[in-house]
Amino acid sequence: MLSILAEASSSLFFPPEQSTFAGEVDGLFDFIYYLSAFFFVAIVAVMVYFVLRYHRRQGHVEQASASHNEVLEITWSVIPSILVGFIFFFGFTKYLDMREPPEDAYEIVVTASQWTWDFKYPNGATSNELHIPVGQPVRFVLQATDVLHSFYIPAFRIKMDCVPQRYTSTWVIAKDITGEGATNETHTPYDLFCAEYCGKDHSRMITKVYVHNQADFDVWLEAAANYLEGIPPEQGGEMAFKKKGCAGCHSVTGDASAKFAGPPLNGQWGTPRNVIARGSSSPESVVMDENYVRESVREPNAKVVVGRNPVMPMFDPQRLKDEEITAIIAYLKSLK
Ligand code: CUA
Repeated sequence: MLSILAEASSSLFFPPEQSTFAGEVDGLFDFIYYLSAFFFVAIVAVMVYFVLRYHRRQGHVEQASASHNEVLEITWSVIPSILVGFIFFFGFTKYLDMREPPEDAYEIVVTASQWTWDFKYPNGATSNELHIPVGQPVRFVLQATDVLHSFYIPAFRIKMDCVPQRYTSTWVIAKDITGEGATNETHTPYDLFCAEYCGKDHSRMITKVYVHNQADFDVWLEAAANYLEGIPPEQGGEMAFKKKGCAGCHSVTGDASAKFAGPPLNGQWGTPRNVIARGSSSPESVVMDENYVRESVREPNAKVVVGRNPVMPMFDPQRLKDEEITAIIAYLKSLK
C-alpha cells in the first residue's frame, strides 16, 4: 500500500525519488499526511455539525450529558492505536534499514567545515562535489571540523548530522545516473545541502551529487586522484581552488563584499596587505608571496587580513597536499 501511495504522489511535495529509500520514506510521509488530513476534515465537520445542531436555543431545556459510552470509547482508542502502531512499525523498521549499511558498501569520507564539503574516496581522490556509482550501496562516514553541520540530499531522502569530535554515518543506493543516458528526466545532478545552521555562509554550503555508472565512475575516480598530472600548474591550481572550496570564500573577480568571507585574491600577487599576526594587536604589512600563501593555508590564523574574521579552516596536508598548494600559487599568480 505504501508503494502505491508513493507512486501516486511522488512529485507532490518532493523532488523525484532517486534512491531505494525514497519511495518508502515518501510512502510513509504521505500516509501520515493524508491520515492527518482525513481526521482534520472529519473532526472539523463533526464539530461544525454539532455547533449548528446543539447550539443554545430559546425555550430549549438542556438534557443531562451522557457520562459513558463503552462502544464509542473502545472504538476511539483501538483504531488510533492500530494506526499509530502501523506508523511506528514502518517508521522504525525503515529507520533501522537506513542505519545499517550492507557490509560491502563503498565508503566515502565526508568532511563538513564552514562552509564547504570535502569528499574523500578510497583511492585518495578528493572532491567538493559528490560523485557516486549507481545501484551500489555507498556508505558515508561523516565528520565536522568546526561546528555542527548536516548532510542532506533531498533526492535520496537522507539526512545526517556532521558532528565535531565524532563520526556519524549514513548510506544510500542511487537508483539512476545523472547526466547523459539517464533513464528518466533526471539529467541534472542532485542538490546536496547543509541542513543545520552553521554560521554566516550556511546558506551557501551547497554542492552537487553526480551519479555515474560503474565504468564512468572508475574513470572519474582515477582522474580525480591524479588531477594535477599532465596539465599546466595554473590550470591545476584553478581546479584545486574550486575543489577544495577556496572559491566559496575568496572571490577572483575583485568582489570584496561581505558575500565572501575572505579577501579577494586576484591582482594581489606581490602586493602588500595589512594583517594582524597571531598574538599581536597592531597591524603589520606583508607581501603576498609563496610563503605567505602557504602559511595562510596551513595556519590561517597566523596572519589575518585587517577587517576580516579568523574564520578560514585549516588545511593540513591530509586536506591539501603540498603540490596542490604549489599549483594554487601558480593560479594566484595568474589572476589579474
Ligand atoms: Cu554547514 Cu550549515
